[in-house]
Amino acid sequence: MLQRDADGTPTPDLKIRLSDYQPSAWRIASVELVFDLDIASTEVYARLELESASATPTPLRLDGEGLELIELRLNGKRLGPLGYRVEAHALELSDLPASCALESRVRIRPQANTALEGLYLSGSAERGFLLTQCEAQGFRHITWFLDRPDVLTRYSVELRADAARFPVLLAGGNAVGSGMLAEGRHWARFEDPHPKPSYLFALVAGRLECLSQPYITADGRAVTLNLWAEADAIGQCHYALGALQRAMRWDERSYGRNYDLDVFHVVATHDFNMGAMENKGLNIFNAKYLLADADTTTDEGFRAVEGVIGHEYFHNWSGNRVTCRDWFQLSLKEGFTVFRDQSFSADMHSQALKRIEDVATLRRMQFPEDAGPLAHPVRPAEYAEINNFYTATVYEKGAELIRMLAARVGPQAFRRGTDLYFARHDGSAATVEDLLAALGEAAAVDLTPYLAWYAQAGTPRLSARCHHEPATRRYVLRLAQHTAPTPGQAVKHTLPIPVKLALFARDGRMLPLRLAGEADAVGVERVLELTDAAAEFVFEDIDEAPIPSLLRGFSAPVILECAMPPGDLALLLQHDADGFNRWEAGQHLASDAFRAAHAGAAQYAALAAWTGALGALFAQTDFSDAALLAELLAPPAISELEALVEPHDPDAVDAARRRLEQALAQALGASALAARYTALHAAEQGAHDAPAQARRRLKRRVLELWALVDAPAALAAAEAQFAQAAGMSERLAALRVLLRHGDAGMRHGTLTAFRARHGQQPLVMDTWFAVQAEVAGVDALDTVRALLADAAFTLRNPNRVRAVLGTFARQNRTAFHRADGAGYALLVAQLQALDQLNPQTAAALAQAFNGWARLEPKRRALAESHLRALAATPGLSRNLADIVQRSLA
Ligand code: ARG
Ligand code: ZN
Repeated sequence: MLQRDADGTPTPDLKIRLSDYQPSAWRIASVELVFDLDIASTEVYARLELESASATPTPLRLDGEGLELIELRLNGKRLGPLGYRVEAHALELSDLPASCALESRVRIRPQANTALEGLYLSGSAERGFLLTQCEAQGFRHITWFLDRPDVLTRYSVELRADAARFPVLLAGGNAVGSGMLAEGRHWARFEDPHPKPSYLFALVAGRLECLSQPYITADGRAVTLNLWAEADAIGQCHYALGALQRAMRWDERSYGRNYDLDVFHVVATHDFNMGAMENKGLNIFNAKYLLADADTTTDEGFRAVEGVIGHEYFHNWSGNRVTCRDWFQLSLKEGFTVFRDQSFSADMHSQALKRIEDVATLRRMQFPEDAGPLAHPVRPAEYAEINNFYTATVYEKGAELIRMLAARVGPQAFRRGTDLYFARHDGSAATVEDLLAALGEAAAVDLTPYLAWYAQAGTPRLSARCHHEPATRRYVLRLAQHTAPTPGQAVKHTLPIPVKLALFARDGRMLPLRLAGEADAVGVERVLELTDAAAEFVFEDIDEAPIPSLLRGFSAPVILECAMPPGDLALLLQHDADGFNRWEAGQHLASDAFRAAHAGAAQYAALAAWTGALGALFAQTDFSDAALLAELLAPPAISELEALVEPHDPDAVDAARRRLEQALAQALGASALAARYTALHAAEQGAHDAPAQARRRLKRRVLELWALVDAPAALAAAEAQFAQAAGMSERLAALRVLLRHGDAGMRHGTLTAFRARHGQQPLVMDTWFAVQAEVAGVDALDTVRALLADAAFTLRNPNRVRAVLGTFARQNRTAFHRADGAGYALLVAQLQALDQLNPQTAAALAQAFNGWARLEPKRRALAESHLRALAATPGLSRNLADIVQRSLA
């Protein structure tokens, strides 16, 4: 089957395989780039100092797509058309000397670039700015190059542009000069002393304002931190600037990593396919993860900015100084860096809450991926389109693997190991094996068994069964693992699974843990490692049947299957000292209750235990952790619950989940909810410290539950809260409740007021679109259609597309999965249009169909036929075709 590339060139759908990896036959000793920038047309001059890896050079094949060739010179001599061969995506030169200089001149068209990879325009032609996105393979849209991560070289870059239209010129590295040219044009030069692969190249040119601050690194380097945004947004960069400094200090202290250039730029754009990008010395951010102030940003939004600022900054070592040998190693930088940003955020806020959020994200995003047609290992073995592998598996599961390794070797050895890894591979491109070798060497532990985690897709199921033997005072825990087949991997291997556990006596005490064969007990919490398909662990000196608290802190990314009596779970929910497992006990109870509700049971023990335990916690006035309480009061997300019943009917899943929430709200009681709301409301002063954020989090949850049992009172409170809100967290919490429970007049009035206030703020308008697209109900699809028809909607802006279509297809399950298939039809039509503009964003959105094969038969057939229609669309991009084909395979 033939597909078309972003630039319209047909390409066969070839798979790239890890097993085919070959080092490059050519190296690039240095590169000089000169850009003559303009919006419609930009000329790129490149001079590559090439060196053959062998004395008898093989033909040189450079990557390039959509480039208009102006001229080529070899060692200064112009090459005629017989001297080279241009193919769809390659420039081939034969009979080259082993060392030579190749100069090329090409023209590219930034304004016509709607795919947002390579050089493109953000904003309008009159006022917008030019920028680049090169990861994974955008650089080949800029010039002919060896566009692969294991070709590292030194960059020297000159930018030239009209000084009035493009007053700010930025590229990665240190600024080494600037000046004026004829006809009102100016130039600026940059040199990056650190060798880097092409995917880390970046430039920015346009009208931008700067927020600047000096910083001295722990090793004494004076650095200028520059945050750049368009004039109307520069005032919203202060929080990110503070977060950046916290991230830099944290990396110095936690990993001994210092920044390594004179200047660090971060630029905000509203037009971005992903979250942000760690280009060396010139990070580029989706504005969503950089701009923040109390009036427009929720507390979660602030935390997200801090986390992404950390993430991209930490890449400077885990990704930039040490990069990836090939794109199969993507998790080497992404999984590791997500682990680093998670640890940073946990240190800045609360360990337990961060762990709860991260595991909830993993279960909501990654577990379904691992269980569906797009399942792939953290290190995939093959790909047709690498941009489709920036997934929850590579990122979030990858972070879980690093977390397991860190726990396995312990904190001191982990630090020695990362030091060794950074020292050994500095300035080069590494593999997952390299990282495991360094960590293992520093700890004197063989970590190679953990490589299997990188190679195997699917979430392992860990079953635990236990019994107590009063006569011998023994407690026997039997663990077994099983991983179901995934596409292309019929046979699964056993994995090393670390299981952190504690045993509780009935009075809430933690029991000393002595395994059979040990002389003494080793603490009250320990880690067992299951390395075989099954194993038995025997604990001695256990007088009565204890309550096991297993997989504490979520010590391995597995699905734990352990039948537990509701009373035991309720006890853990009330008493477990591990904040994560406390929450987990509640999730377990809620899942059991969900199963019963879904099966139509009238009354069920799990539900009573869940609501009873939460009722007791809620009544405890000395329960000090308001944020944890808010998390405890939420049942698992729909996408988690869907996995518990198969095949599933989204309406039935949704209805059963509502019954749970309704029962919880009733158990807590309207008057207690009202009282708690009033108390939290009185304490609210719009402060931003942790207690204030925690209060708002709980208050939001209380308001939502209150609306389920006393809608008129809760709506009145929500209206007042909306009108008086000191910040976006409060305003949005109220808006959501009004949209769900209010009448048409209320909904219209609030949305109009919200738009009047925030209509000029694109990020808040994304929220305005998203909160409407997520509301369930018979008219949900009409709402989505109206949003698509709104003057402020455009398929050209990925944030807006995600706000409407992403929210609709991923969060509004009953609307997307409407029994008549109208939700599928709507998404397919939008995907067909979007794919013409932006294949990467279309491919990401199409993944909302994941899980279609586990739907009840009627919807399953409808989803499949719409997917097949999409697959048959003429001229589908490689990005979207890859997703659709794998989804249907
Ligand atoms: N490396 C970026 C990060 O920090 C993601 C960029 C991915 N871009 C893409 N087009 N696939 O996670
Ligand atoms: Zn990253």
